[in-house]
Amino acid sequence: MYKIGVIGGDGTGPEVVAEALKVLHAVEKKFGLSFEFTHLNYGGDRYIKEGKILDDAEMEGLKAFDSVLLGAIGHPDVKPGILEKGILLKVRFGLDQYINVRPVKLYENVETPLKDKTSEDIDYVVLRENTGGIYTGTGGITMKGTAHEVAVQSMVYTRHQVERCLRFAFEYTKKRHLEKSWRGLTQDEIDKGFTGKLTLCGKTNVLTYVFDLWERVYYELAKEYPMVKTDYAHVDATCMWMVKNPEWFDVIVTENMFGDIITDLGAITQGGMGIASGGNVNPEGVSMFEPIGGSAPKYTGKNVINPLASIGSAAMMLENLGETKAAQAIENAIQIVIKKLNSMAAGKMGYSTTEVGDLVVESL
Ligand code: IPM
Ligand code: MN
Repeated sequence: MYKIGVIGGDGTGPEVVAEALKVLHAVEKKFGLSFEFTHLNYGGDRYIKEGKILDDAEMEGLKAFDSVLLGAIGHPDVKPGILEKGILLKVRFGLDQYINVRPVKLYENVETPLKDKTSEDIDYVVLRENTGGIYTGTGGITMKGTAHEVAVQSMVYTRHQVERCLRFAFEYTKKRHLEKSWRGLTQDEIDKGFTGKLTLCGKTNVLTYVFDLWERVYYELAKEYPMVKTDYAHVDATCMWMVKNPEWFDVIVTENMFGDIITDLGAITQGGMGIASGGNVNPEGVSMFEPIGGSAPKYTGKNVINPLASIGSAAMMLENLGETKAAQAIENAIQIVIKKLNSMAAGKMGYSTTEVGDLVVESL
């Protein structure tokens, strides 16, 4: 039995999570699994009513779960930053979920804004460092309100953080191709023993301290992974290649803020926020899975938002828990359902949120 903490959160979060739970109930029967869901009402509504965000005891409480499923955090009536930092980032940091796994995969029959690109071309994973960098909030404001006001927010990385993230990335790339080499390798590269490619995305030409550290550790670790072809791209160029030649990517690893930015770009190339799932992973602890789109307040309660990203995040959770068969079954069901939808966008699917959840269950 798995104990799952469920944070529906704000806006359309609870609606999409409800569909993910529906699908998890369906795999329960089919794969002999059992889930105990605990609903946690953390989010904007509670904050407005009670002034509570997420206290230390609640944070500790999350450690008792096998995994956490999240809908979305962000409320139109709460100043930006309060809930995002107070809940989402607090959990990522507090549970030491140091990797954010964001697959960029264009399913068949999903429209991409990239001209002439197909599901053959868009199939890679971005691994975003998830507990360091600018997100640590290191810095501050002095002389606030004066003409000489100074604002500092620093990109802070320890060797420990960089090393564990890159180690995870090399291991991930290795495992991704245990059965079959990555399609993007040439015969010559395969003959040399490569099975996959890991692109370090950085900014070594300007951020000469932080990325000096990343680059050194990256090439040190690379020696232990002769099957992984090394590759480096500046973050600005990465954005360009993600649009022009997404087929060049297998696994991308990058720091927190760069990862935040490039994964929204990645998400739109795979059909948008309705379909993009992600996981905040602590390989040794409790992980949290979420659709990467926001709380979409304007669609709240309308039963029009696409739940597939949330259902996909439930599949990622199962994969993480080691329930590979059940995870794969959900993946397959998603791919079948996609073929029935007119679009991935809210209100344009041709079905309601709950109907899409039902379709996934039927396909299972
Ligand atoms: C994401 C989101 C968050 C982030 C926000 C809501 C704090 O954009 O998960 O990508 O910046 O990490
Ligand atoms: Mn983001």
